[in-house]
Amino acid sequence: MVGFFQPKLLTGKRVLITAGPTYEPIDPVRGLTNRSSGKMGFALARAAAQSGAQVHLVAGPTPLATPADVIRHDVQTAQQMLDAVLAKIAETDIFIAVAAVSDWRVDQTSAEKIKKNSEFVAPHLTFVENPDILQQVAHLPKPPFCVGFAAESNELEKHGQEKRIRKNVPLLVGNLGPKAFGCEDNEVTLFDAKGVTPLPRMDKQMLARTLIAEIAQRLALTN
Ligand code: CTP
Ligand code: CA
Repeated sequence: MVGFFQPKLLTGKRVLITAGPTYEPIDPVRGLTNRSSGKMGFALARAAAQSGAQVHLVAGPTPLATPADVIRHDVQTAQQMLDAVLAKIAETDIFIAVAAVSDWRVDQTSAEKIKKNSEFVAPHLTFVENPDILQQVAHLPKPPFCVGFAAESNELEKHGQEKRIRKNVPLLVGNLGPKAFGCEDNEVTLFDAKGVTPLPRMDKQMLARTLIAEIAQRLALTN
């Protein structure tokens, strides 16, 4: 019903969204992941489709249902997420990185389940950094309009603007997490070249529609 009243702000635009956590295997039965539910990214995908955009959603493991009129690509690892994003990026006008990408993966995944041993010695895992998907996309020679998300645990204003500049994105949506993980609502602050704009707390679908309007407005200004 809501979609019926949604203004078609993104008609003809091609939107690519990452959402959910990633899962980095340690061995065939264990892995490294995080508490992202995917709700914010899926809500944005729904709102973008209802605004008339063609939407591709690259999703890490989450039980959420695919929103109507959204093309979904399921992935597990950060590298798979990057590959799926790069495969679509040339046909993308707006890239919204909502996924909570695991910053690290284990250096050597074990082909067999790691077993306990009789000496009670715990395994020593070494980690390597995953590719930064948003940063790579934003530094392409002709990037789409890029939007980042950031959940910080403190000093949101300082970290938000620093992160926006480091990632080279025109718009970053920040919040003080992990309060928002799995919740139905969220309270965010927008960071752009003009400054810092706090938005009131609202449910994630309403917030998604608000963010789509903010993005559409900024895209119109850059074209
Ligand atoms: N991001 C990404 N790929 C990564 C890490 C992050 O695309 N490997 C994106 C996220 O989807 C989000 C933004 O970058 O839109 C910010 O993520 P965040 O984890 O807050 O930033 P990091 O640069 O990883 O910094 P840190 O976790 O150290 O705060
Ligand atoms: Ca991170």
